[in-house]
Amino acid sequence: MARFASFVVLAISLVSSTIAFPASRSLAGLSIEERDAAVASLRPAYPRPPPPPLADDGTKLVNDAAHRWRPAGRGDKRGPCPGLNTLSSHNWMPRNGVVTPYQMVDATQEGFNMESTLARRFTYSSHLIDGNVITDLMSIGAKTDLTGPAPPPPANPGGLNLHGFIEGDASFTRGDAFHGDNWQFNQTLFDEFAEYINKYGAGNYNYTVAGEFRYQRIQESIATNPQFNFRRLRFFAAYIETIVGVNLFTDGRRDDGQVPLEDTRSFFQDARMPDGFHRAAKPYGLEGTDVVFAAHPFTPGSNVNGINSYETDTTSPDFGTDPDGCIQYAQFINEAVAPLYPNATGILRRNLNLNLQYYFDTFGGKCEQIFPFGKDDEDDN
Ligand code: HEM
Ligand SMILES: *[C@@H]1O[C@H](CO)[C@@H](O)[C@H](O)[C@H]1NC(C)=O
Ligand SMILES: *[C@@H]1O[C@H](CO)[C@@H](O)[C@H](O)[C@H]1NC(C)=O
Ligand SMILES: *[C@@H]1O[C@H](CO)[C@@H](O)[C@H](O)[C@H]1NC(C)=O
Repeated sequence: MARFASFVVLAISLVSSTIAFPASRSLAGLSIEERDAAVASLRPAYPRPPPPPLADDGTKLVNDAAHRWRPAGRGDKRGPCPGLNTLSSHNWMPRNGVVTPYQMVDATQEGFNMESTLARRFTYSSHLIDGNVITDLMSIGAKTDLTGPAPPPPANPGGLNLHGFIEGDASFTRGDAFHGDNWQFNQTLFDEFAEYINKYGAGNYNYTVAGEFRYQRIQESIATNPQFNFRRLRFFAAYIETIVGVNLFTDGRRDDGQVPLEDTRSFFQDARMPDGFHRAAKPYGLEGTDVVFAAHPFTPGSNVNGINSYETDTTSPDFGTDPDGCIQYAQFINEAVAPLYPNATGILRRNLNLNLQYYFDTFGGKCEQIFPFGKDDEDDN
């Protein structure tokens, strides 16, 4: 009898595991039928507003007893962002890499002292395209270890990997999606990064290194990736990522914007803080972006006809033409978010609207708000 019962349990769990939609997988881009079936199997959650900025916002020990590094275990998710990978491997957010936006904002503030507006803007833009807006969960990646053979195509297996909006081409230590693996640590790319760290930073990753290597990686993608795409939000993200690394991987006790090569390797490759690591001395947002951009000013665009055919996209804003981010905001909502969720209704629409609001709040009331799914009706709540 006991044996029969456990057989039934096993059979049921096998059946449900083949039909259950993973709670952290994005609903973006599904057909309306697929999406309805997924939503019916998921447990909805109300998207909690993000935490406020830190009250106590100085440096402190963050590689402490409660936040020891452990390598990702079986089934834990890790992905293209060395900062988020590190926060999960140090238990500042769940070690399995499946988190709520609230937890992500909280962890980036507490663990690294990322400035509130930037933390919220990254988090909610990513959640809207890569997270599951019904369950309020997002996965930071797809795979446990960060090296080894890539899973078979599609090269976009989940996590923070929707290509071309935030995740994109010409990353420092991850390859272009066109070449197959856009989220795992790539030793060849890191070796080249290390050369730049030695040549332009005398052994430290700093804004000068970031400016030079940013330009070099763009040149490499132009020359090797026929589908090189460096436009819209990705253009901004590609510059901002490079200074976020300098600002937040610098030990806050020094606060000198110089990240030693071995610390850089530890964060990018192993998702590991150095022993005794102290978070940044103050909340850091976009500081340094202007320096990196000014080193080699470049226009947004793409290869339009195979390799070495880069053309400027005049409809894409750059740092000079979109000071408040309103063009970026409107393009992201209209071109990325809206088409991914056709005919959203009910809790889907309610949760999309809440996340859109949390994202819009990062633009400080300077931009005109867009409601691609309409405003909520009373009967939706
Ligand atoms: C606030 C939530 C965050 C989100 C949603 C996020 C998301 C991402 C994504 C999707 C990428 C891949 C982009 C690409 O294709 O290059 C990325 C890259 C990167 N992120 Fe984050 N990130 C966040 C916070 C952080 C933090 C706190 C740090 C540092 C402490 C950080 C440092 C970086 C760096 C250095 C890269 C570039 C990696 C490379 O080029 O190899 N990020 N992030
Ligand atoms: C790492 O990047 C190099 C240079 O782009 C590329 O040739 C190589 O195939 C990549 N390695 C893996 C494992 O993807
Ligand atoms: C980066 O390091 C190099 C070598 O020490 C130095 O010349 C350069 O001024 C540094 N750049 C910044 C922005 O700190
Ligand atoms: C989605 O909504 C539009 C406009 O209301 C409608 O024309 C279309 O038929 C809907 N599509 C589906 C598949 O329900």
